[in-house]
Amino acid sequence: MQVQAVQGDIAQFKADAVIVNLFEGVTKPGGGTGAVDQVLGGILSQELQANAKAFKGKLGETWVLPTYGKLPARFVIIVGLGKQEEMKALQLRRASAAAIRACQKLKIKSAATLLHGAGIGGYDTEAAARLLTEGALLGNYKFTKRKGAKTTEENTDNGNSKDEFETLTIVEQSGDKLPAVEAGIRFANVIAQNTNLARDWVNDSANHVTPSFLKAQAEQIPGLSCTVLDFAQIKQLGMGAFELVAQGTEQPAYLIHLTYKPQGEAKKKIALVGKGVTFDSGGLSLKPAASMELMKMDMAGAAAVIATLKAVAELDNLPVEVHGFVPTCENMPSGRSSKPGDIVTAMNGKTIEVNNTDAEGRLILCDALTYAQKETNPDELLDLATLTGACVVALGKAAGGIMGTCDDLIDRIRKAGENAGEKHWPLPLYDEYKAFLKSDVADMINSGAKGEAGSSAGGMFLKEFVDKNRAWAHMDIAGPAWISADAPEVPKGGTGFAVRTLLYYLYNLA
Ligand code: BES
Ligand code: ZN
Ligand code: MN
Repeated sequence: MQVQAVQGDIAQFKADAVIVNLFEGVTKPGGGTGAVDQVLGGILSQELQANAKAFKGKLGETWVLPTYGKLPARFVIIVGLGKQEEMKALQLRRASAAAIRACQKLKIKSAATLLHGAGIGGYDTEAAARLLTEGALLGNYKFTKRKGAKTTEENTDNGNSKDEFETLTIVEQSGDKLPAVEAGIRFANVIAQNTNLARDWVNDSANHVTPSFLKAQAEQIPGLSCTVLDFAQIKQLGMGAFELVAQGTEQPAYLIHLTYKPQGEAKKKIALVGKGVTFDSGGLSLKPAASMELMKMDMAGAAAVIATLKAVAELDNLPVEVHGFVPTCENMPSGRSSKPGDIVTAMNGKTIEVNNTDAEGRLILCDALTYAQKETNPDELLDLATLTGACVVALGKAAGGIMGTCDDLIDRIRKAGENAGEKHWPLPLYDEYKAFLKSDVADMINSGAKGEAGSSAGGMFLKEFVDKNRAWAHMDIAGPAWISADAPEVPKGGTGFAVRTLLYYLYNLA
């Protein structure tokens, strides 16, 4: 699907449908919606009145009318924007996604749309175009790549699965505004397509998305430099914790390092670290079947990091040096895999008693964190991981957990998430939780007091590998990385969670 912009009169535009909007509680439509109503001879407002109980203009509601030849388009789709005084980025994105869902239902190929909400709630033309485009592309996403032999040639491999809907045209009355609309579209294309790419990787199965697959994807991104450590190098560099997890599987493990360097001087250096466990069986501390079923998604942090770096390279206008580190391997039981009680030495010299091989995320991340800091000495260090089931228990699918060493950094990420339409809820790293790390035989244990503050325990473990005074945030995305109920802009399955947050954080977008 593509989004484009033209100057013109939406009522005269040739497309299968025209998308207009309505704020909740408004009975007499004005603006662009009112103009379309006039061309329709007042049918639209009559219908709205007649169906006032069924369609109220609530956020994400849609109502479809035939145009009976009064417009070049066959349908008018009215999308609810919610209450005008509550207008926020979320509304614009969600309304647009809902309109695209309505187009999917009508099985049409094209639509012309008003630029919802421009000039309202502080959203200028460019932001409104960006949010509309994001919503449309995110809402139109479907993972169809592995469906049926006959569809494979139609399925694209570029991060957007096969589309039925083809073209959305933003019709803008004033030609002066067109450049701003186009700028918004350009930005949103990159944000949404890379979110959809991350979704593809998370949705695809673990026999396809292996560590080698992630490595190959990372290596082929234009505009980034990519270096990859293999198992021998991981071992040689003293990453004993990562090595222990990686040794148990036939699939070769890698530590991928992607770098974006700006044209001019970099104002800041940021390192992102993403957990890339392409399948988490638990290892010898084997998961029960039901908990294992979805563990192809345990590389969602890695997907978010790689997709974000790819977006940054495509936009190529960020005055920040960005590094992406992805430790990637499988967590499997085998004759070579780690045994509960094994003791290893991590790259920073600390010894770890691995009492539970299912707490593997922190083992691969701790060495990646040490390595990332050694290699880049970043101003800000973020890690993203589907780290704990406890985080899903605490926050459900609605939000990721966030914790770290720098409140300002956490605030900025949370704010970025709010604007991006993703929630991150703070969890504490209290000194009391240090007790969770206590081992009788090593410096620390990888899985402490069961049933108590499990997400914070994971954070406390990782904190042991973060340099003093480093601004660091740990994002536990175990919940929102995968959902089983649709939201308009987030179809069920892999969500690509955090790609948007990271880009809004890096670009400081509102
Ligand atoms: N990948 C899992 C966490 C997870 C659970 C992600 C559910 C998404 C949905 C992680 O490796 C894990 O197994 N964590 C253990 C930690 C425990 C052994 C300390 C858990 O949550 O049970
Ligand atoms: Zn895991
Ligand atoms: Mn695990």
